[in-house]
Amino acid sequence: MRIGGRHYRTIFLHEDGWSVQVIDQTLLPFVFELRRLASVEAIAHAISAMTVRGAPLIGVTAAYGLALAVRAAPDDQSLRHAHRLLAATRPTAVNLRWALDRMLAAVAPHPPSERCERAYAEAAAMADEDASHCAAIGRHGLALVEAAARRAGSRPVSILTHCNAGWLACVDWGTALAPVYAAHDAGIPVHVYVDETRPRNQGASLTLFELTAHGVPCTLVTDNAGGHLMQRGAVDLCLVGSDRTTRRGDVANKIGTYLKALAARDNGVPFHVALPGASIDWTLEDGAAIPIENRSEREVTHVTGRGVGGDVIEVVIAPEGTRAANPAFDVTPARLVTSLVTERGIAHASEAGLVALYPEHAKQAGLRPAETAS
Ligand code: MRU
Repeated sequence: MRIGGRHYRTIFLHEDGWSVQVIDQTLLPFVFELRRLASVEAIAHAISAMTVRGAPLIGVTAAYGLALAVRAAPDDQSLRHAHRLLAATRPTAVNLRWALDRMLAAVAPHPPSERCERAYAEAAAMADEDASHCAAIGRHGLALVEAAARRAGSRPVSILTHCNAGWLACVDWGTALAPVYAAHDAGIPVHVYVDETRPRNQGASLTLFELTAHGVPCTLVTDNAGGHLMQRGAVDLCLVGSDRTTRRGDVANKIGTYLKALAARDNGVPFHVALPGASIDWTLEDGAAIPIENRSEREVTHVTGRGVGGDVIEVVIAPEGTRAANPAFDVTPARLVTSLVTERGIAHASEAGLVALYPEHAKQAGLRPAETAS
């Protein structure tokens, strides 16, 4: 995507040809700054401190982390150590495990002298693949926005989204926001309600930044406004991303997503989830088994923003000594999901629906190919 007239991906190689550049997302929307990461430890810290975040980007960043580790020491022991270090950074997005396992499979069978080249090539392939998968999600999801546009008549299609599932969460384009960009670029009038997404406010700081930079009309709303907006007929469809989707279509996404799905169901508003195949955990059936990340109390008791003097400051919003709970994700059951928008097309949120698009997983899902047609 373009920032200040220049095309950026969220992750790319530095001009030295080996270290990694990322956009520091903790500074947005106030400062656009690149960070250079030159070791597996720096990559692990960038993921856990959320310098980079969003399921697909976490996966690709971890892949480059493994490449940096192999460059420093290509032996089996270092490979295993790097895999463990990176896998422990964030628990919910399955893209992390998927990316690390794919890197191991690409690198480990080769002699140490060849591993560095293999690792960088695989990480680059994963970055390219993520960008092209997100573009495909945009093309498939466009049909949903077009259908809503036909129902909306002359007014813009009104879409509600939660957290940030745009290009900043991926390598390019995004998942939930890819169909929005595709529709906007195709000349379909769209308007996006953006949940602020406490506690870290990824909606307010990242989604608003992205959509505004691309010229998509958007309005920030508090996390609790969605139900009211849906009751009043102000939302045509909800579009959100996913950090982990089970094989039967239960969806883990940023905390608060489930409440939006409940409100959408009560008000007859379609609730679509956009995700690449890398976000599907074929080993899990029930969303209750998805590990939910618990983050620090400070993210709840404190808020960061720009003060009236212009400096970015952190302020406390609760009485001293307040205890806070901070589950970072929740699970929306498949029965509340209207459809899953993937790079291969649109699936019913069910095991049969997903296996119809990903038949190579039919065995793992316990379905015979004949049962997969939806
Ligand atoms: O904690 P974050 O900011 O990494 O959470 C991000 C989300 O929940 C996104 O909606 C999700 O990763 C889907 S991304 C394209």
